[in-house]
Amino acid sequence: MPKKLAEEEFELLKEVGYSDKAIEFYINEVNVGSIEKPDVALVYTGPCGDAMKIYLKINKNCVIEGAKFYYLGCPGAASSGSAITKLIIGKTMEEAKRIMEQDILRELGGLPESKLHCPELAITTLQKAIAEYEKDKGQQQV
Ligand code: FES
Repeated sequence: MPKKLAEEEFELLKEVGYSDKAIEFYINEVNVGSIEKPDVALVYTGPCGDAMKIYLKINKNCVIEGAKFYYLGCPGAASSGSAITKLIIGKTMEEAKRIMEQDILRELGGLPESKLHCPELAITTLQKAIAEYEKDKGQQQV
């Protein structure tokens, strides 16, 4: 269900420089949620104090079939989480590991100057989730 924003809040997002795409992701909460029985779910809190939890469903060919997230934080974190989950669905874990800040910013059509670090929260959370998954898999094979 889309977020309900007052007209003033919507205008404020625009005024401070959020792109239409970032606002759309934020309002529509794209890929916000959890996955039942995920192959991995991991929480990470960034240096700014915002936090993200990413859930991944990974098939036997190492392709990410599902990705969802929850966040506690700013619209930059929200839209970055939407962008990264959109970008990685259908990709292999190796491809997902190569996603950079620039890819998220391109997907969003940019972020306000003061929010350029927000994609880092999504990237680090994803990388830690993949590392955790690989560690678990490695242990299962021992
Ligand atoms: Fe922390 Fe945006 S201010 S992720």
